[in-house]
Amino acid sequence: MFLTDCLGINEKNNLTIGGLDVADLAKEFGTPLYLMDEDKIRENCRIYKNAMEKYYGKGLVLYASKAFSCRYICRLVAEEGMGLDVVSGGELYTAISAGFPMDKVYFHGNNKTAQELTLAVDNNVGRIVVDNISELEMLSSIAKSKSKTVSVLFRIKPGIEAHTHEFISTGRIDSKFGVALETGEAEEIIKYAKSLANIDVVGVHCHIGSQIFDIDPFLLAAEKMTGFIADIKDRHGIEIAELNLGGGFGIKYLSSDDPVPYDEYIKAVSGVVKDVAKKRGLTLPKILMEPGRSIVAPAGITVYTVGAVKEIPNIRTYVSVDGGMCDNPRYIMYGSEYEAVVVGNPLGLREKTVTIAGKCCESGDILVKDIALPLVKAGDLIAVLATGAYNYSMASNYNRISRPPVVMVSGKKARLAIRRESYEDLMRNDL
Ligand code: LLP
Repeated sequence: MFLTDCLGINEKNNLTIGGLDVADLAKEFGTPLYLMDEDKIRENCRIYKNAMEKYYGKGLVLYASKAFSCRYICRLVAEEGMGLDVVSGGELYTAISAGFPMDKVYFHGNNKTAQELTLAVDNNVGRIVVDNISELEMLSSIAKSKSKTVSVLFRIKPGIEAHTHEFISTGRIDSKFGVALETGEAEEIIKYAKSLANIDVVGVHCHIGSQIFDIDPFLLAAEKMTGFIADIKDRHGIEIAELNLGGGFGIKYLSSDDPVPYDEYIKAVSGVVKDVAKKRGLTLPKILMEPGRSIVAPAGITVYTVGAVKEIPNIRTYVSVDGGMCDNPRYIMYGSEYEAVVVGNPLGLREKTVTIAGKCCESGDILVKDIALPLVKAGDLIAVLATGAYNYSMASNYNRISRPPVVMVSGKKARLAIRRESYEDLMRNDL
C-alpha cells in the first residue's frame, strides 16, 4: 500500500508509522519532525546479519553511520551485534560516547587528521581503513609514539563503474578515495605497510558507490578484490585476512524502484568470494559489508506542516512547508526524488500536481518536484517518505533554522532520540 510496510493507515484515516498515528506524533513533538520505525531498523539489521551467517559464515555486517549517526542508533546497532563504520572524529566520538564496542569499529575517510587518528588509536578502534601513503605514515608514527600496534585495511579503487549519481560513485580511478588497483598503487602501499613498525596489515576495502540497484558491479568488485588478495599472496607471500566490500545497496524511494532484496546481495557476493578463493587456493577471508542507507532510509519519514500554497496559473503550484533543504538537502544536491503523502488523507485521490518547497532562501529549495497529491491547505501535514538516511545526517542550520528532532517508534511507543534544536542551541558557540 505504501512504500514500506512500517507505514499504515488507521481508523481516523491518518497515516501511521510503527502503528502510531503520525498526526498525534506531530502534535506531541511539533514539525518538522523526523520519525523512524526502530523495529524496522532492527529487522533490516537482522536480514543482513542472518544472511551473512547463512551464506558465508565468516563475516560481520557494519552499519555505515554516515547515513544517520547519533547515540541512540549506535546503541541499537550494538544491541543487534553489528559493527560500525565511522568516517570522522565526530562519528567516532558519538560511538565512543554511546559505549559502542571499539573492536567492531572501522574508521574510514580520505583525509583523516592527526587528531582524529590519535582519538582512534587512544580508543583502540578495531580497524583503521587507510586511504593513502601519507595517512599510513602518520598513523605508523602515532602508533609508535604510543607503543601500540594498529590493525589496518586499505581503501582500494577497484576500477568499477557503478550506475548511480556521479557524486556518490566512488569506485573509479578518478576518485579521491583510496589507491588504485590497476596502476599497482594498491600493491605498493601494502608492501610498504608490511615494512612499517606498529602497523598490522589485516585487510583490503572497497566501496563502489551508493544507491546502486544492479547486483553485477558488486559481484565484479568481489571478484576483483578476492583476486587481488590472491595476487598479493602469490607475489609477496602476504596474507590478507579481511575483505571489506563496502555498502551502497539501493533502496526504494519511489514505488517504481525495484531494489534487490538485501539478503540476495550477501548471497551472491558470498558465492563469488568463495568461488574465487577456491580457484586460487586461498583461505576464505573474513568478509565485511557496510550498508547504511538500506538499514535506516526505509524506516524514516519526515513530517511537515503546510504553510503557503501558491498557485501560479498555467505554471506550477508551490506547497511550502516548514522545513526544506536544511533538513533534506538531497534534492538540491542530487535531484533526488521522493514520494510524499498527506498525513490526514494518505490514500486520497491525487488530483493535483504540486511542488513541495521548503522555507529556505533558495529557489532550489525543493523537497519533491511535481508530485500528484490530494488537495492541501495551510495547516495540513505532509510526510515525505524514506528519509531515514542522509537527511538528519546531512541537515544544516542554513538560514539559522534549527534541526528537527528525531523520534523513534518501537512497540507502539515513541521515544525522543534527538531533541529539537532551540534558538539558544543555534547560538551555543557564538561569542
Ligand atoms: N562504506 C563507505 C566507505 C561509504 O563511503 C559509504 C557511503 C557506505 C559504506 C554506505 O553506503 P550506503 O549503504 O549508505 O549507500 N549522501 C549521499 C550518499 C553518500 C554515500 C557516501 N558513502 C546520498 O544522500 O545519497
